Amino acid sequence: MDETLINAAVPLILEWYRVCKRDLPWRKERTFYTVLVSELMLQQTRVEAVRERYVLFLQRFPTPAALAAASEEEVLKMWEGLGYYSRARNLHKAAKVLAAQGCPSDFKGVRALPGVGDYTAGAICSIALGLPEPAVDGNVLRILSRLYADGGNIDEPATRARFSALLRAAYPPETGDFCEALMELGAIICVPNGAPMCGACPWAGLCRAHLAGEEERYPVRSEKKARRVVEATVLVLRCGDRYALEKRPAKGLLAGLWQFPFFEGEAPEVGKPVAEKRARHIFTHVEWRMHGMLVHVNAEDPRYVWATADEIKRIYAVPSAFKAFMEWIK
Ligand code: ADE
Repeated sequence: MDETLINAAVPLILEWYRVCKRDLPWRKERTFYTVLVSELMLQQTRVEAVRERYVLFLQRFPTPAALAAASEEEVLKMWEGLGYYSRARNLHKAAKVLAAQGCPSDFKGVRALPGVGDYTAGAICSIALGLPEPAVDGNVLRILSRLYADGGNIDEPATRARFSALLRAAYPPETGDFCEALMELGAIICVPNGAPMCGACPWAGLCRAHLAGEEERYPVRSEKKARRVVEATVLVLRCGDRYALEKRPAKGLLAGLWQFPFFEGEAPEVGKPVAEKRARHIFTHVEWRMHGMLVHVNAEDPRYVWATADEIKRIYAVPSAFKAFMEWIK
């Protein structure tokens, strides 16, 4: 690939980042631990969703030792609503490693932490350790394939490897700023759906896609598989001031989290609903179409855990897939 293009692009994006970067809580004080927390939280999750949660999480677990000492239930509760809960379990395990062994200081050590893949390891090395390790995710692939008007399929590992090598050779001494500048450009200027804001882009004068007026032809991607649709019934059972909860299976979607009794297809008859509501929730590979029913019952079925509204709020991590039914919990 043409290295002169990326070499010209690096100082432009660094200068732009210094002036235009968003004021985000994880860009203030930085330690290995805070970078680990922010990068795990930001995997597959929008910055706006993470902002406040990051601050609350670090207030409760300010050090690896504090996180390592917490129960898994509490860590999941602090992760509630963020989705992809295996990240919370991995972060909990990673904190135990840091508390016992200290922080790793090279790519191999970082990559070996639970929940840390190539992208996150690159980001942590660049931001926390000052190492020139590229962090290449979908945003970075998009901005580079536009910069180069590169028709390589970004869902193929070979394309990722090519761009990763390109970045590695072009890394400036400001490794953390460079890494975050690439993410930032993809997040606020060179956006994925709809027209990118080329008028505000530091690369507008170099970007081959823009110069050809073909920004939206890039990146090239594989066709997505359609999501599997699951019809389900959710029973919000109320007995006095308590509600039935069950723990999801230890493996699979939303593993080990709490939910209202959930049935694929129809639920058994338990009584006449006093309210009904439909809701859907979209996961990466599945879509749930739920029929929710609020039913008053006069005995606590021992198959379930029975909790008050306050206990549900304080203790049990209920994923946001069930948010529509939480309004019945009073
Ligand atoms: N996405 C992943 N890491 C990020 C970071 N450090 N800042 C903004 N968005 C991100």
